[in-house]
Amino acid sequence: MRDLLPVDAKRMRYVEQVSREVSKLYGYDEIITPVLESYDLLAAKTSNEIRERMYTFNDLGDRKVALRPEFTASVARLVATKLRNEPKPMRLFSVGSLYRYDEPQYGRFREFWQANYELFGSARPEADAEILILTNNLLKKLGLQNFCFKIGHTGILREILTQEGMDDEKQNSVRQLLDKKSWADALTVASEANVSQECLATLESLFETSGEDAFKVLESVKETVQDYESALAAVENLWKILELIKDSGEQLEVLVEAGFARGLEYYTGMIFEAYIPGLDIALGGGGRYDKLIELFGGEPIPAVGVAQGIDRIVLALTKQEVTPKTAKDRSVVVISVKDESMAKALELSAMLRNRGLPVEVAVMGRSISRALADADRRGVAYAVIVGPKELEEEKVVLREMKKSTQRTVKISNLTEEILANSA
Ligand code: HAM
Repeated sequence: MRDLLPVDAKRMRYVEQVSREVSKLYGYDEIITPVLESYDLLAAKTSNEIRERMYTFNDLGDRKVALRPEFTASVARLVATKLRNEPKPMRLFSVGSLYRYDEPQYGRFREFWQANYELFGSARPEADAEILILTNNLLKKLGLQNFCFKIGHTGILREILTQEGMDDEKQNSVRQLLDKKSWADALTVASEANVSQECLATLESLFETSGEDAFKVLESVKETVQDYESALAAVENLWKILELIKDSGEQLEVLVEAGFARGLEYYTGMIFEAYIPGLDIALGGGGRYDKLIELFGGEPIPAVGVAQGIDRIVLALTKQEVTPKTAKDRSVVVISVKDESMAKALELSAMLRNRGLPVEVAVMGRSISRALADADRRGVAYAVIVGPKELEEEKVVLREMKKSTQRTVKISNLTEEILANSA
């Protein structure tokens, strides 16, 4: 877990702010759920791997609780209970910190942040397409370049293994191995579960099938799985999603991987992760999970969603040297030359803040030159120097820090001069 110092916090908040803007552009309403949840809820609804990595303890009421390792289980709990009767579709957005006892390494933290989007109520391909397009637009809006979506479909493998009679638990261990790219071990587990030779050959060929020409890859996957009817339907579903995106004109760079699996157990359909070149960690990931809500009892509700990893997006922005697009800097420091002009300096700072300008008052009693040097060091855009001589004429000195130029301006014009200058 890390302390986020001002420069880190600023970057994190920038990604959060853009994520929130995107949630509004796509009609996702924000919900805020607790950081602490019932252990049983989280354990039952995520996956073995996450279960083992949760921060778990008994509270004073002797209830077993855990820090949330992700948002989806909590959002699903709400959709199955308090939001059960809300009209569909329902689009929900959450942002905040999550906790996993992961091995610390580059881009992997024990406390990290996600911007999470979930779309409930539609099993149709346009819902999957929306989640992919939203992610594409978010990463683009943030200024990232050359990012790519690794895409697969849980149904392909699931239907083959189910048709071969493999139970859910064994299927989950195959998927966990695939998530870790341990293809040979995944084949061993399948072989020990007594699947047919034909199945082993199909799996082997699937694990090798990937490429950037999505429809060519899917054509070849169709051929490989032709004897598994339900798996074929999964391929058709992925085809339809990608076709919709292509026909909508959205530019989406994809890498289709037939043997792609994600660590969470609840996925039932399309799954994906986003990457930039040279950074081998997913910036975000998600997919379709049509069976999770019914695990809470009640009606099944189809769902698809994505979580963007805010910490990792910050790393990606740094790697690609993207500086956040901010409005021209309008920060101001107000420096009083003498003690007797201090009250006026406070009055003028209030006047500037009232018009939305960020203002600091020089509070260290430093000389003008030292106060200016300090403002310069911190990148403040303007200094307003308040001295008794200028005040006699209802004026102050306005200094543009970057240009090192200054002029005397009337107090009545001061705000407008700064605003016009930084518009
Ligand atoms: P996830 O793949 O576990 O999916 O996490 C999503 C993203 O969170 C990852 O791609 C990564 O960027 C970030 N992340 C995960 N663990 C860490 C970590 N230890 N340190 C830094 N960043 C991390 C989920 O959480 C699903 N709930 C996503 C989802 C939503 N699926 C459907 N709806």
